[in-house]
Order: sequence, then C-alpha cells, then structure tokens
Amino acid sequence: MTFRARHLLGIEHLAPDEITTLLDLADTYAEANRSGTAPRDRLAGLTQINMFFENSTRTQASFELAGKRLGADVMNMGMQTSSLKKGETLIDTALTLNAMHPDLLVVRHPSSGAVDLLAQKVNAAVLNAGDGRHEHPTQALLDALTIRRARGRLHRLSIAICGDIAHSRVARSNILLLGKMENRIRLIAPPTLMPSGIADFGAEVFTDMRAGLDGADVVMMLRLQKERMDGGFIPSEREYFHRYGLDAEKLAYAKPDAIVMHPGPMNRGVEIDGTIADDINRSVIQTQVEMGVAVRMAAMDLLAQNLRADRAAA
Ligand code: NCD
Repeated sequence: MTFRARHLLGIEHLAPDEITTLLDLADTYAEANRSGTAPRDRLAGLTQINMFFENSTRTQASFELAGKRLGADVMNMGMQTSSLKKGETLIDTALTLNAMHPDLLVVRHPSSGAVDLLAQKVNAAVLNAGDGRHEHPTQALLDALTIRRARGRLHRLSIAICGDIAHSRVARSNILLLGKMENRIRLIAPPTLMPSGIADFGAEVFTDMRAGLDGADVVMMLRLQKERMDGGFIPSEREYFHRYGLDAEKLAYAKPDAIVMHPGPMNRGVEIDGTIADDINRSVIQTQVEMGVAVRMAAMDLLAQNLRADRAAA
C-alpha cells in the first residue's frame, strides 16, 4: 500500500503517491455514499474522539459522519465545557484522553503546531482538523478531489486562490498540495492579506483580481478571517467586495468553464457574490461538502490500516 503516514498532520508530510492513494479511495467512498453501500464494518471496534477547541460546523459534522458511516464508535468532546476551562493544559487533556485508549483522534486547535505536539504524546492516529494558520489537510484533500472530479485531472491546471491568504490554513494546505501535484498556483490578495515570503512556495502573486484570474481553470475564494485580524487589514467590507469580491464581471476573466470553490463558511457580499455561489453551472461548493465526508472516510480508513498493522507487529 502506498500510504505510509501514521498521522494526518499536514499536507507537508505527504508524498504525491500517498495523496493519489487517498483520493482514489475517497472516490470510491463518494460513490458508496451516493448509493448507500459504504462498508459499515471498516472501522468497527475502533474509537474515534473528536476534540474541537475552536468552533466548527461542517468539519466536525463531516468527521463524525465519516466515522459513523464506517462503523467507528464516535465521541465528541465538548471542549468548551471541558476541564480546559478549569486550567488544564493541552498535554494533560491529551494524556487523560490517551488513558481511555482512543484509536483515532481528530483535533482542531487555535494554535499552529498544537496538533503536532499532541500527536507526539498519544498512541492514537491523530488527524489535524485545522491548527491556527498552519494546516487543514482534509480541506485541501477534499478540494483536490472536487477539482479532480470536475476537471478530470489534478495536474497542469491554473488555480487561483483569492482573498485572505495571510490568515488561512486552507490556503497553506492547498498551496502545498496543488504544488506537489504540479499545478500553476496564482495567489490574489490585497498586500495586507498576502503573507510575506509566499513567492518561495512557487506561486505567482497578484494584487489585481482581473490579472490574477486571467485564464484560470479553478477559482478558490477564501473567507475574510476577521477573528484572526487585529484591525486595519481592509478599508471596509464594501470596498473589499468591490476590489476582491468574486462577481460575474471578475469571473469572466477566468476560463469559460472555470469552477468556483469556497471552503465555507461564506460571507456573501464580502468575498463572493451570492448569485455566483448559487450558480450550479459554476459553483462546486456543495460538492466540496460532499467530498469532505468521502475524504475523511478514506483518511481514517488508511490510518486505521497502518495502526492495525503496527499493533499486529508489536
Ligand atoms: C475553514 C477553517 O476552519 O479553516 N473552514 C472549514 O474548515 N471549512 C475556513 C474558514 O474558517 O474560513
């Protein structure tokens, strides 16, 4: 099997053949989900704990559903009401959980690097569901599967990633993944929302939407992450939409059959015009959500196989 990883902490650690293995399996799960034929016993006997230290709607629901579809016992830890409020450290929480012998640990945390740290302290396979501005690997994988299904391939595409790149773990994981699969990446953002040194990742950098979108096969919009800004990054939301919001006029610069993506949650009228988001001929936003469940099923299946093999060898 060409999936060697013990944890899914970031795209950074995955080789192109591992990405392809995971996407191929996720493709079969996407079809199984449509026909209601997912193998219910795949994760039977395994315990999955979801620990979300940051709010989430779709990611947590998606991981929960993915585990249940494959027969895992799934528990959601309410981190808002947990002992963390009483001053327990992340590591103590992790060690407490570890003593309960979970097999799969899904973690979202506001600090970059927190999930990697946790993975070093526990015996379970750890999946990063987003850590600070660092990585969100399952989002990049579901985006990749959505692109591959819509465009028929995942290489030599021109992909524009637009908006608040500076605060976005989604952008970071996508830049890494799409780069590994040899695509042409174009980053479009106002200078205040473009991270310094980003050109080192091999992407082209634009501050103008029309120039950046020119000839793109894929247009990926990002949310303005106000909760990560300490003021002053944009003049106003109205001005931002005028210059960087995706509307029909700006989208016309991309290829006529370019697809429009957004990881959600969306701010309509800020980074994207509602009519574009709802246009079923252009927008694949709902498909992204659908592929999210399939990708998480594949990720947990592959990690569980490696976990079982390790335990059998021990
Ligand atoms: C993203 C996240 O949490 O990083 N959302 C998601 O997982 N679908 C993007 C965002 O918050 O804007």
